[in-house]
Amino acid sequence: MSSSIAAINLSSIQQKLQHVSHGTLCKSIAISGLVLFFFYTFLYNNPYNHSSDLFMSFVEHKSPATSVDITNSPTNISHIMFVLVGCIRTWKYRRPYTEAWWRENVTRGNIWLDLPPTEDLLPWPSMSPPFQVNEDITKLKVYPKLVNPVEVRIYRSILDTFRLGDNKDVRWYVMADDDTLFFVDNLVEVLGKYDHTKYHYIGTNSESIKSNYDFSFEMGYGGAGYALSYALVEELVTKMDGCIERYPHLWVSDYLSSSCSADLGVDLTIEKGIHQIDLRGDISGLLSSHPKSPLLTLHHFDAVEPIFPAKDRFESINHLMKPAKFDQSRVLQQTICYHRQSNWTFSISWGYSAHVYESIFPRSILRRPLETFASWKRGRPPLFMFNTRWPSIDPCVAPHVFFLETVDRSSEEGDLVVSIYTRSSTRNMPACSLNGNHSADTISRIQVSSPAIGRKEAGRIECCDVEYETGKEVASVKLRTCMKGEILA
Ligand SMILES: *[C@@H]1O[C@H](CO)[C@@H](O)[C@H](O)[C@H]1NC(C)=O
Ligand SMILES: *[C@@H]1O[C@H](CO)[C@@H](O)[C@H](O)[C@H]1NC(C)=O
Ligand SMILES: *[C@@H]1O[C@H](CO)[C@@H](O)[C@H](O)[C@H]1NC(C)=O
Ligand SMILES: *[C@@H]1O[C@H](CO)[C@@H](O)[C@H](O)[C@H]1NC(C)=O
Repeated sequence: MSSSIAAINLSSIQQKLQHVSHGTLCKSIAISGLVLFFFYTFLYNNPYNHSSDLFMSFVEHKSPATSVDITNSPTNISHIMFVLVGCIRTWKYRRPYTEAWWRENVTRGNIWLDLPPTEDLLPWPSMSPPFQVNEDITKLKVYPKLVNPVEVRIYRSILDTFRLGDNKDVRWYVMADDDTLFFVDNLVEVLGKYDHTKYHYIGTNSESIKSNYDFSFEMGYGGAGYALSYALVEELVTKMDGCIERYPHLWVSDYLSSSCSADLGVDLTIEKGIHQIDLRGDISGLLSSHPKSPLLTLHHFDAVEPIFPAKDRFESINHLMKPAKFDQSRVLQQTICYHRQSNWTFSISWGYSAHVYESIFPRSILRRPLETFASWKRGRPPLFMFNTRWPSIDPCVAPHVFFLETVDRSSEEGDLVVSIYTRSSTRNMPACSLNGNHSADTISRIQVSSPAIGRKEAGRIECCDVEYETGKEVASVKLRTCMKGEILA
């Protein structure tokens, strides 16, 4: 046994367990010191006594029989099989998170449960994904050795889904929790870039450096959601129970999943629109400076404050889904423009928020999220996997903050989507005197118009123009294609 095992204290391990992304609330087992000891013995000493399995996996790399020309047959929503995992205890109150994005008779897949639904959950609503009950894992040979059977049940939902036999035309298996919010049109576009006949494992790691350090920087967090190509799943399912036998001491399903894929030679591909949200408090700063990748998922709504002021969690999610119904490609996409007469900067996070700064800030600064949120667990910085800006009380630096009020289609000046953002609270600061002393206090509403037809090109920013007459309540922002070489500063 290595001495490092003794050095690991219980609290740091419990902390790790709370980073767990998948199904934490479905767990009921107690954490015993003995179990933790085995967990670490395993991690540090790696007893690969099933090495024959391991090497078999390497040699069996064959290209899948099905080879589809994805340029002639683009990936669409019916090629995605959702493998959502919950339990009857959490489903009661998490159902609205899933129903906010699930499309009856359109999205394919199931919500996997630990037990048949209790009477209070019946009749099963048609707006929910159909339920399935996972195979009983107590009859597995490896069962007595499992330190966390719940996590094995969760991972085996992929196998259970495959065995249902409804695999016709499935290109992607997308795994997530019952509190994961999907932006399905964007998911279709992003997965469409990859060839499902090759091995792909697409997800993201945690926002928290500590979580990734404790588990793995190579792990796609399960609550954030991750996608496995058909070719990979076809291989994984035949070897899944063998893999579980190699890793009976792993605590979390997503670590197990990343380990099983790794042993087939497949590493994580990170997509920046997937979000685990291992954060606490007010995440508006993060959602107001989203990377330019399409928004794919959000997670952990129970752990953060409602994302809109004066709305509860469910209202907030349904509110964000309103702009998503008009145009998913622009949701949370940051667009920056300037009102030069006043030395102001406008930063729009489409469908969510608008910030007005009484200074000119370049995009290189504004793309960093304002650190309005706290880390999942207290600790010493650096805490996050990205750079942040510290919220300031300097009137030249602190923004005026507006949140989405309404969104609608308008044909007044061409076919547009008009989204309106209203001030959430007064800024309570004097004007920034360094830049001409132009106060933006008079603005109460920001009206943003964007094209109603045509998705924004993924991975490419848009530019905008501001129209504002001094003293007026409404500022108007029009999104447009950036000019060649246009500089945002
Ligand atoms: C998706 O594409 C397949 C062809 O690969 C087609 O048969 C199916 O109708 C399409 N589904 C949707 C919803 O467009
Ligand atoms: C879904 O399909 C079922 C069965 O075909 C049908 O009764 C139901 O009305 C459909 N729901 C929607 C929203 O299309
Ligand atoms: C903008 O700010 C600069 C200083 O940052 C100042 O010199 C200039 O006069 C301001 N322009 C206006 C129109 O207020
Ligand atoms: C800035 O403008 C406010 C009114 O908006 C005024 O009261 C204040 O004196 C001005 N300050 C400077 C330095 O011009």
